[in-house]
Amino acid sequence: VYHTPEDTPSDLLPDCAVVIDVLRATTTIATALDAGAEAVQAFSDMEKLKSQASSWQTDKRLLAGERGGLKVEGFDLGNSPLTCTPEVVKGKRLFLTTTNGTRALQRVEKSPCVITAAQINRQAAVNYLLETQPETVWMVGSGWQGDYSVEDTACAGAIAQSIFQQSDISPINLFGNDEVIGAIALYEQWKDNLLNVFRQCSHGQRLLKLKGDADLQYCSQTDILNVLPIQKEPGVLVSSK
Ligand code: MLT
Repeated sequence: VYHTPEDTPSDLLPDCAVVIDVLRATTTIATALDAGAEAVQAFSDMEKLKSQASSWQTDKRLLAGERGGLKVEGFDLGNSPLTCTPEVVKGKRLFLTTTNGTRALQRVEKSPCVITAAQINRQAAVNYLLETQPETVWMVGSGWQGDYSVEDTACAGAIAQSIFQQSDISPINLFGNDEVIGAIALYEQWKDNLLNVFRQCSHGQRLLKLKGDADLQYCSQTDILNVLPIQKEPGVLVSSK
């Protein structure tokens, strides 16, 4: 478990990277793909996004993203998962840029396997890891501009705890590092009260100031979607189904 992309060792990549940005990028990605978006193409760089999106058919694309939590001016959507309804996203490619989540994706995009996870699709990520059994797995939280975010680490703990409960993996193998033990303990402590934690954590507070309580409520739900976003080429996520 890495709390931020900056924490990952720069000269290594895992067999499988699980990118987590519960508030809100990976929640939005799961929601958009579940609602029938063709793909989500993630960019940390706004200018790259604009240039790639301009070569895409206009009626088949949506520009989506935030800076500091606020919708980018002139874009079709911000980064609220609640705007990703089938009516809006079905059949479209979302060109998405966000402050932290897309940066975490970019850090690991050359890994042989990249999936994204959030609290809402936690079990889909667990099932995939149990089926494929990659030798090395990194769970990479997005954090906030290099700082730790409690919600991403709690989600990593939720994934690790579920793998541990559903498999015969020995705790010696699972507990490969102290971060995993800490993440599981964090999730155990707060699992019945995630919404309250989200309302108190630093990015939750930021979103509340932007009238984002409905987003916090949505993002704090566990296992409500059975969708697994998986990278098919660097930066491009599709539903594994
Ligand atoms: C990010 O990538 O930093 C987040 O998803 C920000 C947000 O809440 O939109």
